[in-house]
Amino acid sequence: MNPFHHEGGLLHAEAVPLTSIADAVGTPAYVYSAGALRAAARRFRTALAAVPRKQLAFAVKANPNHAVLRLLAEEGYGADIVSGGELAAALDAGMAPGSIIYSGTGKTRTELIAALDAGTGQFNLELEAEAHLLSSLAMERQIRAPAVLRVNPDIDARTHAKITTGRAASKFGVPIHAAIDMYDRLATLGGLDLRGIAVHIGSQIVDLAPLESAYLRVGELVQALRLRGHSITHVDLGGGLGVSYRPSQPGADVEAYGAMVARITRDWNVTLMFEPGRFIAAEAGALLTRVIWTKPGTERPFVIVDAAMNDLMRPALYDAWHEFAAVSPSGERMIADIVGPVCETGDTFARAREIDRVEAGDLCVFHTTGAYGATMASTYNNRALPPEVMVDGDRFAVIAERLEASAIARRRSVSRPIFVTADAIPVDA
Ligand code: LLP
Repeated sequence: MNPFHHEGGLLHAEAVPLTSIADAVGTPAYVYSAGALRAAARRFRTALAAVPRKQLAFAVKANPNHAVLRLLAEEGYGADIVSGGELAAALDAGMAPGSIIYSGTGKTRTELIAALDAGTGQFNLELEAEAHLLSSLAMERQIRAPAVLRVNPDIDARTHAKITTGRAASKFGVPIHAAIDMYDRLATLGGLDLRGIAVHIGSQIVDLAPLESAYLRVGELVQALRLRGHSITHVDLGGGLGVSYRPSQPGADVEAYGAMVARITRDWNVTLMFEPGRFIAAEAGALLTRVIWTKPGTERPFVIVDAAMNDLMRPALYDAWHEFAAVSPSGERMIADIVGPVCETGDTFARAREIDRVEAGDLCVFHTTGAYGATMASTYNNRALPPEVMVDGDRFAVIAERLEASAIARRRSVSRPIFVTADAIPVDA
């Protein structure tokens, strides 16, 4: 479902013209379609209809907005979290603690305690020392923490290097060849209910072959562990399905993914867990922005918009492509570089891109920004954090206020610091 479409020459999110949203909250602003979130959540579930026992957990990092999480909770999704902050967000949004999976390479003691005390449904262990710490914390509480061991299958997901996680040299999981011995050791820990394996090889994966290879390796591991007497009841297959960012590049075929998973896991006899993030949220979002200036360049004009790399980092970080469109296109086109106001050459959204002809004051959007958009925003250049708006049918709601630049500046406004020595107890620093 594409929630962004033209009606009467004006781009709408569902039935709401984007001009109304810009009037209400200003720009830049993120706009999400509730209908598109629901549709993607249902499509993912339907694609896995042939998997008898499954648990779906939205990767909160993709979009931690509470309204988004609540909507997905209503769709029967739990949460895949990677920090204490995401744990709090998932709980506040009403997700059942038992439906929360705690992934993450560096969970601190404080975070582990908070997650244990909240009744988190599963801990995905990343290293042996973490397993020991979790076990001892659980034993202090006279409980057993449900846990799986994340393995690194050494498979190239054939996606952007910065979002590849399943190569042997990456920091994620434990090497699959070391997993059996480690599992033997961890299974003896009194505070763990060690019940399976997790794998996640990367993000924005459109080619299913690497996922299939990873899952096949996990299947072999499950068999080997069972032969050694371990009871394997859960396998977490991670997230990673890619979406289409430009018309010429299709996203992953989720129905083919579902069929592949069902085929490969048919005899596993486990509960399968999935952690989709981008697939659920990316296409449901757009970043609304206004052209500040168009500026002549030596080769082509610059379109300077009021969104910047701090609002949407993906182009600067991964050379990511986000479609750019005028909210009220004239039909004329132009070739331009689209840039933001931040003082870095990296603050470039697109180079030599053919786009709708725009002028100063025109309202525009960057598409496919519902995942890894607002959540990765920063306040670089003392810029505000953009507001977020959710559209449902012909209505919309502000689901995150703009964090004004003045509030950001205020945090750093101790112009006369009160210095203390290390042994002094700062009373009111
Ligand atoms: N599970 C684990 C353990 C993960 O590390 C991730 C993403 C996911 C699930 C969700 O993956 P997804 O279904 O969204 O592909 N900032 C980057 C993406 C980083 C993904 C990190 N891990 C971007 O903007 O492309």
